[in-house]
Amino acid sequence: MPAPDPASFRAAMAGLPTGVTIVSASGPEGPAGATANAVCSLSIEPMLMLACLDRGSRTLLAVQAADSFGISVLHAGQEPIARTFATKAPVAEKWSGVAWSERDGIPAIDDALIWIACDLRDVISAGDHVIVTGEVRALEAREGDPLVFHGGEYQPLQ
Ligand SMILES: Cc1cc2nc3c(=O)[nH]c(=O)nc-3n(C[C@H](O)[C@H](O)[C@H](O)COP(=O)(O)O)c2cc1C
Repeated sequence: MPAPDPASFRAAMAGLPTGVTIVSASGPEGPAGATANAVCSLSIEPMLMLACLDRGSRTLLAVQAADSFGISVLHAGQEPIARTFATKAPVAEKWSGVAWSERDGIPAIDDALIWIACDLRDVISAGDHVIVTGEVRALEAREGDPLVFHGGEYQPLQ
């Protein structure tokens, strides 16, 4: 079997469907946010969430400065938001085009399927990413179709 390389690793993992979220925080320069699919629930007691953020992510800096972060799980109609927040556009520009509001002291995407506000707990170095865990302090969820990322593309759940 050939040794795996980063390209084959990336291609293989594209086969794992995920939901799509915006991880957000209120940083010293205002709201920050990034599209992230490396996000999951981690523990029930206590209630913990986990997100993996690239070392170069401006949102990571904001999360660490704010000591808190939010997770907005996008619905199938919010693909344009996912595209916007996956860019390195000036941070203020990302937020100017979307409906958002501050909830629990954290910028949140309006109309998301799930909103989770977390107090930052652990910051763990892991390769070219940093794992952040957060204690859930507010939660809101509603029914609806999630936005899914699979095969390198955004898709509705089929
Ligand atoms: C579908 C999708 C999922 C992504 N998931 C993550 C992720 O889990 N963690 C991460 O750091 N970046 C992820 N990214 C890349 C970031 O969204 C991108 O680097 C963004 O520009 C970071 O913005 P920031 O520097 O303002 O934080 C993802 C991008 C896409 C398109």
